[in-house]
Amino acid sequence: MENKTLANDAWGSRLGLILAMAGNAVGLGNFLRFPVQAVQNGGGAFIIPYLVCFLILGIPLLFIEWSSGRFGGKYGNHSTPFILDTMGKGRMWKYIGVFGIFTNIAVVAFYTYIESWSLTYVLHSLMGTFEGMSQSQVAQFFDNYISISSSTTGIPFEPVVFYILVLLLNVYILSKGLSGIEKASKIGMPLLILFGIILAIKALTLGESGRSEQFPDASTWDGLNFLWTPQYDSLLNPKVWLAAAGQIFFTLSVGMGTIQCYASYLKANDDIALNAVSAGFLNEFVEVVLGSSIVIPIAAGFLGLDWVLENAGFGMAFQTMPFLFQQWGTVMAAFSGVFWFGLLFFAGITSSLAMGTPWIGFMKDEFDWGRKKGAWSFGLLALIMGLPTVFFYQQGVFEEYDYWAGTVSLVIFALLESILFSWIFGINKGWREITDGADIHVPIAFKFIIKYVTPLLLLLVFIGALVTPQGNDWTTNIHNLLSGNSWQLDDSSIIRKLSHFELKNQLAEAKTALDRGVIEDRIFYSNLARILLVSLFLFIITLVFYASKRRTKLSSK
Ligand code: PHE
Repeated sequence: MENKTLANDAWGSRLGLILAMAGNAVGLGNFLRFPVQAVQNGGGAFIIPYLVCFLILGIPLLFIEWSSGRFGGKYGNHSTPFILDTMGKGRMWKYIGVFGIFTNIAVVAFYTYIESWSLTYVLHSLMGTFEGMSQSQVAQFFDNYISISSSTTGIPFEPVVFYILVLLLNVYILSKGLSGIEKASKIGMPLLILFGIILAIKALTLGESGRSEQFPDASTWDGLNFLWTPQYDSLLNPKVWLAAAGQIFFTLSVGMGTIQCYASYLKANDDIALNAVSAGFLNEFVEVVLGSSIVIPIAAGFLGLDWVLENAGFGMAFQTMPFLFQQWGTVMAAFSGVFWFGLLFFAGITSSLAMGTPWIGFMKDEFDWGRKKGAWSFGLLALIMGLPTVFFYQQGVFEEYDYWAGTVSLVIFALLESILFSWIFGINKGWREITDGADIHVPIAFKFIIKYVTPLLLLLVFIGALVTPQGNDWTTNIHNLLSGNSWQLDDSSIIRKLSHFELKNQLAEAKTALDRGVIEDRIFYSNLARILLVSLFLFIITLVFYASKRRTKLSSK
């Protein structure tokens, strides 16, 4: 293979690389997903499994992906299909590598949509749109926004316009190559951390001063105590473990193919171990320290812990925060709005940029597409996949993408790549890849963990999600199974999701034609989403197929 590396195809500096990698990891997941997962899984009950998963799933997968990437880069491969191909024997691996391009395009489609909300909300905070609004009016503003009714704001089709603007911005930065990403991370990451620290200090000093007549017991400390009082009994609850593992995946961006792609632009003797650990810990700092010190304490400070427990969800960030900021007075409200939504925007864009790189790298390696062509075609694919999430957000297209591409695919891909790494490529070779050029001593225990613990745990996580028992109650179901009864699946299990089990049940029970219509719509649009996802997957398989033919032809010349 001839050397295709151009001047711009390498990281400019170590700082740039670490900020880019941290920017890749630090994303909306840190501020929107983590607090919600923590609250829904019992607060202090969640933290221990979460930290354990970081150590025995997160760090090992970071090592695997960084070293696979650098290894692939030595052979001129910058995306997972042919990175895996060089590591594995047999034809199958390059098709498994398709996941590492597919998930990025599918995830970026809905991810940039949230990114665009944060940008719009920065502007609305500056414009004072939320001034004088009641809590329900702020919430309504969001509902109107996502239902694309143009009545709430001056700009017609504002969500669509901003979605496209944000995509264009991504394409523009991506067309500048790695240096564009480095620049974006060098601006975005420090600002994000600064905004986060300011908001966290504001939240922690709020104490009980945010109480109102309606919520006389509200206190930020309740929120923090809830998150930080460990509860050891949760260690036996598989549901909490599944959620913890899922969050570790999402937040570290493992199982996606972006880390391999970024790492493939390293030099052969560049350090991996210290870089991987630094970027990983930076992400954890932002997630665990900043991510848990903003939304939950502020909401608990004004509305009380009970409100938070009942309303924990995605909407908190967009439906509640702008209202709470108003309680600090007009000027502080504008600043806080800009800090909070600006922070989300920077977190989002440095991650969505990462999702563009595997496609661009692949098209360049295999079909000699330049950076511009790569970036624009990525934007086009994201747009085709993304418009349905924008227009049919409420019908569930967004959720469907998030579930299949943003959750299930990550686990499948991570499981397969960890098997490939330890058992086919071989753990001894793999260990050498991890430790070669390392600036730190990697504890040998990780060799054992990577070989046995990580794949086994991934397998358990996957099986756990595939056949989740009713009510997430493993003990009872295993007892039942042993005494000859059948396994009762939960509606949240992959198997039941696949057949729309819950929706079909709801349909059967729906009383009015109107209710039935809504559910039928949901089924229709989830199927549409699935067709789009499968088509995207098949499309990339076809490209890999042609790429591999092309390689055979070129090498026989
Ligand atoms: N880690 C990012 C977040 O926390 C999401 C992401 C996943 C980004 C995969 C890139 C690749 O939001």
